Amino acid sequence: MREKISVIRNADELKTWTRQQKLAGKTIGLVPTMGYLHAGHRSLIEAAVKACDVVVVSDFVNPTQFGPSEDYATYPRDEAKDLALCDEAGASVLFVPTVETLYPNGQDSAWVEVNHLGDHFCGAQRPGHFRGVTTVVMKLLLLSHADKAFFGEKDYQQLTIIRRMVSDFGVDCEIVGCPLVRESDGLALSSRNVNLKGNARKDALVLYRGLLAAKALFASGERRSEALIEAAKNVIESVAEASIQYIEVADPDTLDIFKDKTGERVQMLMAVRVGGVRLIDNMRL
Ligand code: PAF
Repeated sequence: MREKISVIRNADELKTWTRQQKLAGKTIGLVPTMGYLHAGHRSLIEAAVKACDVVVVSDFVNPTQFGPSEDYATYPRDEAKDLALCDEAGASVLFVPTVETLYPNGQDSAWVEVNHLGDHFCGAQRPGHFRGVTTVVMKLLLLSHADKAFFGEKDYQQLTIIRRMVSDFGVDCEIVGCPLVRESDGLALSSRNVNLKGNARKDALVLYRGLLAAKALFASGERRSEALIEAAKNVIESVAEASIQYIEVADPDTLDIFKDKTGERVQMLMAVRVGGVRLIDNMRL
């Protein structure tokens, strides 16, 4: 019978546990999260359980990836629910570190930064965000001795930056991208969806509908970036409560923005505020 999940809160304890697993010949999967887990996270954990002998899920709202006016303090948290979901999905350890154990020398000490890939899209609007993400992910990769780490394609720019970081540093860990999971009506799953109150939940569907409009136009042969972006924009701007932060079409591997004509492989990425909640979404056209 599978052992019940354990909770580890201390970085050294996690390092010791994962080292022991390695010595015992086990492969380790890591699923980094900020908690408040939903079916999208569950799909990452299940993929990790399938691919690895033991799975560590980290549950940590990372302060260094939030700007001063962002929602660090109010980011939703529910450790008991997260633990139950991880146990059910077959994880071995839920790692719930304190800020002090992950940042023993303070939050402005060593940084890991990937240049250029984080300059546009979310990076342009959230200065320092990706530097916080790469720094914490590097810490988690080192502490967990992971063979494979699992990330959702919902955070497409994040996934691309993490792949580049691992490649540049020669980290001995495979980064596995897992498909974005949507509600049955198309809304991309996100921990922040809980903040969509009243009509905002319904209005939030404009992101998906905008992406589908651009995808249909692309399928009809359109390759002008501006026209594809316009198709998505028109749908989104039909909802008064939605305000576009960015919509771009880019190369899916390098995230280079197509300014004029696109190629044949095109990723559309967007961030839109709906009822005060910042939502991101993306789709391969
Ligand atoms: O995608 C997230 O939830 C976070 O950015 C991550 C990768 C767990 C780092 O804090």
